[in-house]
Amino acid sequence: MAISSFDEDTLRLASPEYGIEESDYEINLRPKTLDEYIGQEKVKDNLDVYMQAALKRNEPLDHVLLYGPPGLGKTTLAGIIANTMGSQIRITSGPAIEKPGDLAALLTNLNEGDILFIDEIHRLSRSVEEVLYPAMEDNAIDIIIGKGPSARSIRLDLQKFTLVAATTRSGSLSAPLRDRFGVVLRLELYTPEQLSQIVKRSARILGIGIDDEAAIEIASRSRGTPRLANRYLKRVRDFAEVLGSGDITLNDARIALEKMEIDELGLDNIDRLILTTMINNYNGGPVGLQTLSAAIGEEAVTIEDVYEPYLMQAGFIDRRPRGRVVTNAAYIHLGIPIPGNNGQGSLF
Ligand code: ADE
Repeated sequence: MAISSFDEDTLRLASPEYGIEESDYEINLRPKTLDEYIGQEKVKDNLDVYMQAALKRNEPLDHVLLYGPPGLGKTTLAGIIANTMGSQIRITSGPAIEKPGDLAALLTNLNEGDILFIDEIHRLSRSVEEVLYPAMEDNAIDIIIGKGPSARSIRLDLQKFTLVAATTRSGSLSAPLRDRFGVVLRLELYTPEQLSQIVKRSARILGIGIDDEAAIEIASRSRGTPRLANRYLKRVRDFAEVLGSGDITLNDARIALEKMEIDELGLDNIDRLILTTMINNYNGGPVGLQTLSAAIGEEAVTIEDVYEPYLMQAGFIDRRPRGRVVTNAAYIHLGIPIPGNNGQGSLF
């Protein structure tokens, strides 16, 4: 893996398991500075202070942990950090680092001030994770030479670097790892207004004309996630180019999103399958995550990381001690009668 610019590496190492497609376009859409980055105001304000302070002291930034649902711009922020600090960035991911030696090789090749971005850090194995502890704390790694009774450990000094790590589940990080990050930032789902600004910015960069109402329509169906908003913008443009002419109108956006089976609130087929399975097979819950996962044939972590955050924010799923339950709002949204004492009552 060579050190290269943020853009090239981002293209190559897009996290595969959520089916994320990254094209040249998406790369150009990524903001390069905090000023260009829309939303996440608290994260931006604090990060700006930490970066300015580190620059003033002429020191590398402290290690940063970014967490939140997929598609909210964690990789983008890592690129912005590198750009602002004037650093090289090396991008990798938890599953790509298989052995302690892989990480040791990465770390010993870093130059002073470099950023090492590890996506999905929660997927590092324990033995690899242990290499990170002294690296983060003392800028050193301990290497074992030899085997058996004659084995000995030697310490290799590293250049001062900044680890920027991203995870969708900070709860699965071990406490010793979590404690070694000086900066911990939580990304939140975006509002439709913020997503609409992102859609309009992307349209401008891509040279697409789009009406305000069309941008809001795409934004409000993108489940709080810029990656989806940008993806839908490109697909809506395809429909608009083939079916219509000129700028993307509200009508173009509606037709395209309906064809893609994205409903008015941004639920897709899998979201609806989750809700209808809970309703039809489990009387609306409570149902355990593993049971649900087996019933719909989707991995439990994917349900938890990708689908649930938005279904919970939309108020369609509630987490209870005995499992997940579907709310009345979900029945109403799906047009399914709410079960009750005489067909009129509610579940709660
Ligand atoms: N593209 C993806 N995420 C973005 C954001 N937060 N701001 C601006 N453009 C983006």
